Amino acid sequence: MLTDNHHRIINYVRLAVTDRCNLRCTYCMPENMRFLEREALLSYEEILRFMQLLTGAGVNKVRITGGEPFLRKDLLFLLEKLVKIAEVSITTNGVLTAPYIPQLKALGIQQVNLSLDTLQPQKFFRITRRDQFTAVRKTLDGLIDAGIPLKLNMVVMDGVNTDELTDFAALTRDHPLSVRFIEEMPFNGQGKGFSGIEWHYKRILDAIRAVYPLEKLADAPHSTSMNYTIPGHAGSIGVIPAYSRTFCGTCNRIRVTPTGHLKTCLYGNDVMNVRDLFRRHATDEEVLSQLQAVLHQRFANGFEAEAANRHSQLESMSVIGG
Ligand code: GTP
Ligand code: 5AD
Ligand code: SF4
Repeated sequence: MLTDNHHRIINYVRLAVTDRCNLRCTYCMPENMRFLEREALLSYEEILRFMQLLTGAGVNKVRITGGEPFLRKDLLFLLEKLVKIAEVSITTNGVLTAPYIPQLKALGIQQVNLSLDTLQPQKFFRITRRDQFTAVRKTLDGLIDAGIPLKLNMVVMDGVNTDELTDFAALTRDHPLSVRFIEEMPFNGQGKGFSGIEWHYKRILDAIRAVYPLEKLADAPHSTSMNYTIPGHAGSIGVIPAYSRTFCGTCNRIRVTPTGHLKTCLYGNDVMNVRDLFRRHATDEEVLSQLQAVLHQRFANGFEAEAANRHSQLESMSVIGG
């Protein structure tokens, strides 16, 4: 079992399989984003070796993220192997996802988290700088029809989509999906000044409560979201205090970047590199013991790490994996 210096058990890995994306969300990356060369990425063989090692040490959940995971060639090959050793979920922007839905269902993918910040096509173009709303909407409808457990992630941006909070909440009326409102974080890849958030999770909840009554639901043990239901609705809504970070105390996760860097906190430094260790012919035992060592230097609260590491704010979420 993997544990850290604060007695937290690590059983969840977020694996970013590519930094590439077919959207350019303004809060995530600049238009002229430079992407990594292929050789810099962990190969599927390296990913599977690391995942075997981690599942052997008690990790039982992996979330595939990016960038946009479906841009990585032969993603289905990787998923087929991973579902045999762990519970697998995916976070996607939905542009390329719709045709894969039957295969995802057949593979038993545990959950899909779909990033969608607006229900209005023109606004979608303003936020993502790409005209792909129709494709994403098709993925949303396809996932609902297929009955794959679905969470919709909406990053709340002051004056951009705050007029749509209740439209998103309304999506839960007929469908058993979870709509989650995320506080914006400083990872925009542009080093652009970030002066804190306008839309704190409590303000988001108040805006929804002004229209709908909210009943608190019990949250899963390591949930990033605080969850509620609107009486009579099939689905639920949640707020993710990604910037306020009320959930650090129960953090059960580590992150692997596309280049095999390990992060023990979203706001933290790269603490080791699995790719380089593998390419230097390190044994599994050596990799595991280095992993255990870095887990014992974790901060209790990620924000401390951020304070010591301001450069992390220059990074794009696409290289961290969200
Ligand atoms: P599940 O709990 O498996 O549904 O997923 P999740 O909420 O961890 O994953 P998802 O990829 O949907 O992420 C939703 C948002 O939560 C993203 O904006 C993440 O960056 C944010 N988030 C996830 N984990 C952390 C974390 O450890 N710290 C912070 N601050 N934010 C996180
Ligand atoms: N702030 C908050 N959420 C972000 N995401 C990407 N960049 C940011 C940011 N700067 C979200 C995406 C996706 C999830 C993995 O992270 O919208 O749903
Ligand atoms: Fe792509 Fe997701 Fe970043 Fe948008 S937030 S540019 S969809 S990686």
